[in-house]
Amino acid sequence: QQSHPFHGRHQQGILTPRPATGMVVACDVLAWDRAGLERLLRTLTERIAFLTQGGTYPERDPSYPPADSGILGPTIAPDALTVTVSLGASLFDERFGLTSAKPKHLQRMTGFPNDALDPTRCHGDLSLQICANTHDTIIHALRDIIKHTPGLLMVRWKQEGTVPVVPPSHDTPTPSARNYLGFRDGTANPSTDDDDLMNALVWSGTDPGEPDWTHGGSYQVVRIIRNFVERWDRAPLGEQEAIFGRRKDSGAPLSGGSEYDAPDYANDADGKITPLDAHIRLANPRTPGFEKHRILRRPFNYSNGVEANGQLDMGLLFIVYQADLEAGFITVQNRLNGEPLEEYIKPVGGGYFFTLPGAVDDRDFLGRPLL
Ligand code: HEM
Repeated sequence: QQSHPFHGRHQQGILTPRPATGMVVACDVLAWDRAGLERLLRTLTERIAFLTQGGTYPERDPSYPPADSGILGPTIAPDALTVTVSLGASLFDERFGLTSAKPKHLQRMTGFPNDALDPTRCHGDLSLQICANTHDTIIHALRDIIKHTPGLLMVRWKQEGTVPVVPPSHDTPTPSARNYLGFRDGTANPSTDDDDLMNALVWSGTDPGEPDWTHGGSYQVVRIIRNFVERWDRAPLGEQEAIFGRRKDSGAPLSGGSEYDAPDYANDADGKITPLDAHIRLANPRTPGFEKHRILRRPFNYSNGVEANGQLDMGLLFIVYQADLEAGFITVQNRLNGEPLEEYIKPVGGGYFFTLPGAVDDRDFLGRPLL
């Protein structure tokens, strides 16, 4: 049973390999003053440290509620669990005297032209990204956290997802799973093994305009993006591949080579091979200077049920991390506005959050440098 160390400069769940299941839970904070917020963050730290490392719940006098929900206990295994805590712009207000501590770019998510945002699935004071090998583990962790934070935290919305876990092999060192449109997803992600690249693209710390407490944290963007899968399944293969700019079977760029080869746009200025409005070409034109706009994607596929019109309600729980929200997601999404893929997708929820730096040892707690 794999466990990820809880203590460190950064939280887990960002560079950590993506396990089979994930969930984002957005919450409202019910604590009304700084002392209550500190109690919440200390409790979250303590619960996450326990849940991610595993252990045995204490036995209780049966006249009290049991210490554990019983889904997995009394002894729980780590199961690659990570719980990543992030704060929304709405937390940085007068309640906690934190208005001047807000990360420089943190803001309330605004709608983009193709969005149809459902207000009941947007924003929140605090987000929990919970990921593990098995679904029971994330449900168990969520139930444990809710049970330990009465009067402090209230769930606002949640979205669960899954990904097929592809074992690394000789030719796919960074394996990319398929999304529900049937394409490999994750191919061109920046390498999480490259510390310098992660410091430049993912971790807060290099921008002098950011408050010191943010160093080691990251901006988290969550978007619930519905996929119109019935329509997609009736679209010709050639159109599907032109929309993404990649081959469906192999994930290779339309310009040739194999999945991890860079697409060639230099010899295709007019977009005859890779259309100029292909998803990957808009998202990353690979022009000099564009490197700073790269983002780290860590999405899950979701399948919720059925819409009133009989269509499947499924899509992508899109999660990205970046050191600079404006240079990252906002810039890339603005470039993607109007892309041909929009005919098949509809963003319906999500939010912007700032992922706290890690707790460095067992005397530390998540958010301590902020308070
Ligand atoms: C690449 C799918 C939404 C940013 C890709 C690829 C696929 C894909 C199949 C090519 C393989 C790869 O490199 O992972 C989707 C689907 C989406 C979606 C199905 C919605 C349902 C978004 C959004 C953004 C985004 C909202 C950012 C605003 C990117 C980036 C790349 C990429 C940066 C890599 C481009 C490169 O460096 O070559 N996406 N995507 N995607 N996507 Fe998306």
